[in-house]
Amino acid sequence: MSGLVPVPGGGNPPLPRSDVPAIELDGLVKRYRKADRNAVDGISLTVARGEFFALLGPNGAGKTTTLSILTTTLAPTGGRARIDGLDVVADAAAVRQRVGIIFQRPSLDRNLTGEENVRFHAVLYGLYPYAPAFRMMAAAYREQVAAWSELLGLGADVFKPVRTYSGGMLRKLEIVRSLVHRPRVLFLDEPTTGLDAPSRRALWAYLRDVRAADGTTIVLTSHYLEEAEQADRICVVDAGRVVATGSPAELTAALAGESLLVDAADRAALRAELAGMGLAPAGDGPFRLAVRTADVHRVLRAVATPLSMVRTDAPSLEDAYLQIVSRAELDTEVMGRPAPASGAGLPTPEAGDG
Ligand SMILES: Nc1ncnc2c1ncn2[C@@H]1O[C@H](COP(=O)(O)OP(=O)(O)OP(=O)(O)O)[C@@H](O)[C@H]1O
Ligand SMILES: [Mg+2]
Repeated sequence: MSGLVPVPGGGNPPLPRSDVPAIELDGLVKRYRKADRNAVDGISLTVARGEFFALLGPNGAGKTTTLSILTTTLAPTGGRARIDGLDVVADAAAVRQRVGIIFQRPSLDRNLTGEENVRFHAVLYGLYPYAPAFRMMAAAYREQVAAWSELLGLGADVFKPVRTYSGGMLRKLEIVRSLVHRPRVLFLDEPTTGLDAPSRRALWAYLRDVRAADGTTIVLTSHYLEEAEQADRICVVDAGRVVATGSPAELTAALAGESLLVDAADRAALRAELAGMGLAPAGDGPFRLAVRTADVHRVLRAVATPLSMVRTDAPSLEDAYLQIVSRAELDTEVMGRPAPASGAGLPTPEAGDG
């Protein structure tokens, strides 16, 4: 927890009632001027307080647009969005106090040093009185900056002008800046793009600490599926619409077709037996069967032919994600429809709790 230094008086606004979700989107729509379609096309979803939520989708799906509305930098065209029960349009100032964002595109002033970027942000948020030099700033601020710079490997570079930074260093500084006011909801728009592996790991370890200490709600967009794998819930959007929502396990189990691979010395006997069980084995063997992991034991118990090989294949989240997106592109009205024959059904787009 080296990096967590308490913010002095008046840091965070009081918590809302515990039953108020961190984020509520209700039919959110955004159409950019002169665009021929909605960038966000009626997204409804709820994120619980303290949840780690991942927003996935192909390029142009509307992720950054959604995050920009939620962090009050972009006005919605329709629908509603609330943070801690506060409307992002009507209560924009209060919302801004509660959210932090790491932008997809760096948004730092390149003529200032890294530390000055952080300092102006902190002063803007009313966390510390302004002083014209780092050494004149409050001790708590200096400790905070030092701890974070060390943690993310910036070190003394934090005092160099931002225009001399590498892409990875820019990213790290953005992260420090986004956390300085201890936001309750932190939006991370592809935060680790451009970070090397050790920095990526350090960032995630740090975010885990922040969550544990502050109960921070985290909303991540990423094209790295292994990062989304850590999320409590994932929402896949495509062309501005929600096409699937669920835990990583739910998405993989429901969509990507777990399979059972079996073989026997007497393949003809095995094939006949499997066919008799309605499992329709294709090919000459080994036989790949569309059997979910939960049903493997039942199937194997029912087979009398001595087996020479048994293997289960669980699909990865990436398999599931690719399947969701390609299906959504084939059938843009996939929402709410039962999935075709193979599957256990598309995880519902936020059925009950929107
Ligand atoms: N400022 C803008 N003006 C007009 N159209 C825009 C603007 N910003 C985004 N768009 C369009 O809105 C749609 C959604 O873009 P958005 O940036 O939200 O996607 P994204 O999901 O974040 O994609 P990526 O994964 O590439 O970051 C795209 O069709 C994009 O071209
Ligand atoms: Mg984006």
